[in-house]
Order: sequence, then C-alpha cells, then structure tokens
Amino acid sequence: MKFFLDTANIDEIREAYSWGVIDGVTTNPSLVAREGGDFVERVHQICEIVEGPVSAETVSQDAQGMIKEGRLLAKVSDHVVVKVPLTVEGLKATRALSDEGIDVNVTLCFQPMQALIAAKAGAAYISPFLGRLDDISTDGVHLIEQIVQIYDNYPELGTEVLAASIRHPMHLTQVALAGADVSTFPFKVLRQLVNHPLTNSGNARFLKDWETVPDNDIAGQVQRWLKARDN
Ligand code: E4P
Repeated sequence: MKFFLDTANIDEIREAYSWGVIDGVTTNPSLVAREGGDFVERVHQICEIVEGPVSAETVSQDAQGMIKEGRLLAKVSDHVVVKVPLTVEGLKATRALSDEGIDVNVTLCFQPMQALIAAKAGAAYISPFLGRLDDISTDGVHLIEQIVQIYDNYPELGTEVLAASIRHPMHLTQVALAGADVSTFPFKVLRQLVNHPLTNSGNARFLKDWETVPDNDIAGQVQRWLKARDN
C-alpha cells in the first residue's frame, strides 16, 4: 500500500519525506487555506520535495472550468494529479483530462457506485472518505472493502483505491487488510504509526544494559577490528 501525506504544510512534507516512506501527497482547498500563501507556488514547492504524485484540487464547479484549471495545474509539474469532485461535471472533466493523459483523482466518494462511475470516466485514483463516514455512524472501512472488491471484479478499469480521511493507525490497518492501493493521512497519524510504548521501553532497556558492556564504542571497535584484519 502506498503512503501519501494529506497536508499542504511544507515542513511536515519535508520531514515526512526524509523518513523515506512517503510515496506522494494529497492536498485539498481546506488544507491549502489553513497554510495561507500562494497555492500554485505551494504545489510547485511540494513537487520539488516529493517525487511521487501530488494531488492539487480544482475549484470550478463546471466541467469546462475544471478542465481549464486541471490543464494549467498539470503544467506546474509532470507529477501533479488533478483532483476533481465526484459530481456530473467532475466526471466530464475526468474523462476529458484523462483522455489528454492527465491523471485525475476523483474526490469526495461516499458510496460504491460513485467509485465505479469515476473509474468508468477514467479516474487514475478514487478517494473514498472513510473518516467522514465514520463521523456519521456509517462504516467507512466497509466502503473501502466494497470498492476494492468491485474493482477486482473489473481489472480493466485500472483505477487505484486511495483511502482518504484517515483518522488513526487502526484505519490504516483496516484499509491495508482490505487491499487499498493507497492511503492518505495527516502527519500526526504518520507519527502515531511508529509509536508503541513497548518499543520505547525496550529501546531504553537495551541502551541501559549496553552501558555495562566494556569498550562499548561500536564504530571504534569495528575500525580497530578491520585494521587488525587487514594487517
Ligand atoms: C483527501 O484527499 C482529503 O484531503 C482528506 O483525506 C480529507 O480528510 P478529512 O476528512 O480529515 O478532512
């Protein structure tokens, strides 16, 4: 499962990318508004840091407007993915942009047939928002399971399932088990992924015990050992 970071914050992207585990970035108008500044400059900056797909969302509500914005956003970098909402106009724009070879991420998906129709329109990614479904007492993970199964039944569709609106590591476990191709989540969740109290206490104990080992400078020991071996 590919990991995308769901943020428009440059510091978070730079830090997360340095961990060597991030495959791409997704943004949306709310995330961009939170950061302020120039949108296109931000998209460009993100594309300079991250080699993988970077989703940038259109805001026009008619297909012609989305197509125009999408074509222009795609000029910012060859790894920009144009994001459009799952509306009739969004489907028209998806068809037009994907026919031109521009990857489209169809966003705000909340039921399986929306995912199927987006795939038929040529979407490169479908973004089901599981956290927002959970918020209204509906099973978000079940939606991912349904979409994965439907897409598996029709492999010719070629759309990747991008599990979005992830709120915690348990969501990630569940969508990985369901077979999502990609998940996108905030930096906070990325940090939570590596945190376990037994890892921390185990590491502390190893370090304490290591202090009792005589001549416990590993680098120095190896260098001396190599020197002795090569003489
Ligand atoms: C996905 O591309 C969206 O930006 C995002 O996952 C929405 O998450 P939220 O429901 O936490 O706002």
